[in-house]
Amino acid sequence: QTPLTIAIDGPAASGKGTLARRLADYYHLPHLDTGLTYRAVAHMLIRNGWPLDDEAHAIEAARQVDLASLDKHALSAHEVGEAASRVAVIPELRRILVEKQRAFARNPAGAVLDGRDIGTVVCPDADVKLYVTASAEVRAERRLRDIESRGGRADFAEILADIVHRDERDMGRADSPLKPAADAHLLDTSEMSIEAAFLAAKAIVDDAL
Ligand code: C5P
Repeated sequence: QTPLTIAIDGPAASGKGTLARRLADYYHLPHLDTGLTYRAVAHMLIRNGWPLDDEAHAIEAARQVDLASLDKHALSAHEVGEAASRVAVIPELRRILVEKQRAFARNPAGAVLDGRDIGTVVCPDADVKLYVTASAEVRAERRLRDIESRGGRADFAEILADIVHRDERDMGRADSPLKPAADAHLLDTSEMSIEAAFLAAKAIVDDAL
């Protein structure tokens, strides 16, 4: 079997994580949500009471990130994602995390990675690159339903503002900004169900095989 590497990028709440998991299941590949590595660093800083712009501690925390023990549940909080996007601007920290992500991608059978810079920086030679988007309103709506389905409460306008703000930070940073790779397939899921998005992505991957 020839290895298959699938790179998936896109903004916050675009549905790229769900899509990445579905594709990984379908093609029997390991999956890495690279956002968790940035979240793990942010979480370590918060837990120790270190400021998010404390570069020395952030870099030290990045060295300690262990892909095998990322605790998805502990890292899922909204504040952790917000903090992650702040520490993600530190070039040395990115270098350390990207190295770990590339090691994961070197799996002999291939892998599915999702994040912001997978097709552009982490796996520029990926077999298939997807750039998953949806309008900010649709993403805010999905996030709201997600929170409510878990019994939480949130305000649509606040979520929308957060999403727009996070987009700006992730697209505007100097090092590895969020943008589609030149050879990425764009997938706008604004009007698609999860199933429809999966089928569209599968068609793109099958076409590349
Ligand atoms: O995808 P998730 O919301 O978990 O990512 C949290 C933050 O981590 C993003 O807003 C982004 O700033 C950063 N990130 C990144 N590069 C990646 C994945 C995530 O800079 N490959």
